[in-house]
Amino acid sequence: MNTASFDLREYLRQRVALVDEALTRYLPSEHLRPQVLHRAMRYSTMSGGKRLRPVLVIAGAEAVGGDAELVMPAACAVELIHTFSLIHDDLPAIDNDTLRRGRPTCHVQFGEAVAILAGDALFAEAFQLVARNAETVPAERVVRALQVVAEASGTRGMVGGQMVDIESEGKQVDAVTLEYIHRHKTAALIRASVVSGAILAGGETWQVDLLSRYGELVGLAFQITDDLLNVTGDPRKTGKAVGTDAARGKATYPALFGVEASRERARELVNAAVDTLVPLEERACALRALAYLMVEREE
Ligand code: IPE
Ligand code: IPE
Ligand code: MG
Ligand code: MG
Repeated sequence: MNTASFDLREYLRQRVALVDEALTRYLPSEHLRPQVLHRAMRYSTMSGGKRLRPVLVIAGAEAVGGDAELVMPAACAVELIHTFSLIHDDLPAIDNDTLRRGRPTCHVQFGEAVAILAGDALFAEAFQLVARNAETVPAERVVRALQVVAEASGTRGMVGGQMVDIESEGKQVDAVTLEYIHRHKTAALIRASVVSGAILAGGETWQVDLLSRYGELVGLAFQITDDLLNVTGDPRKTGKAVGTDAARGKATYPALFGVEASRERARELVNAAVDTLVPLEERACALRALAYLMVEREE
């Protein structure tokens, strides 16, 4: 596989199919009690997300010589954490959104109580799954991956970023706060995805460090693009409403710097991310292509 002949569309088709198949296997059956909770967990998870985070776990593993099968439980785990965060993020008390992945949000479909509990259950299920990766890789690597994923999810990462995001609504925030929000609420889990894949696949310290830098850069570019799509995107492609950030007075890159400067910043971040991959040579061709996708995407 080399960069020139690398077919990202085919790569994604194959990896996403593997992830989807594993997710349906891992999620609790809708026939088990409490059925409504399991229906809600599946409704939100099996609903056509892009699966970028699990694909990054896999690509992180591949970049250091591993493969998809080796890291599949952890790959699914980050998708469950991500889905949990979306369910809670859409709740009336947070972003109050009614459309997600092209369908009514979890609380619209099942009610708020079920949506809150479905999120909680997905979060717990995720850590159970990372632990399960010890069936295929040494436990010492699994413990490190658990630490990385947990840190990226809580107050030092995603949840911390969401807290400052909400606090900043309707306020004029400075560039430092805006970057804090985006690095925490979104880049942290994206970085943890690539890094945990590399750790589980036995990556060396220099490789993990380099992928950590890559993850931070593409993670920030990803959220800037998310902000841009809320201004310029097509809801039929993104599967969520547009114009909502401005309506809520959210702290976003286009609100602070304008659309063009935000696009430019996202492109610069991606170019820097691609530069970090050079020492990994051809093994990193998927990560290279995925970096460009972070900013070129329309969904
Ligand atoms: C949306 O993430 C939420 C953010 C952190 C910006 P994605 O754009 O990856 O959403 P799905 O998983 O494809 O639905
Ligand atoms: C994502 O930020 C925050 C999460 C960690 C879920 P957004 O609030 O911008 O995500 P969307 O636009 O609702 O998907
Ligand atoms: Mg939101
Ligand atoms: Mg958004």
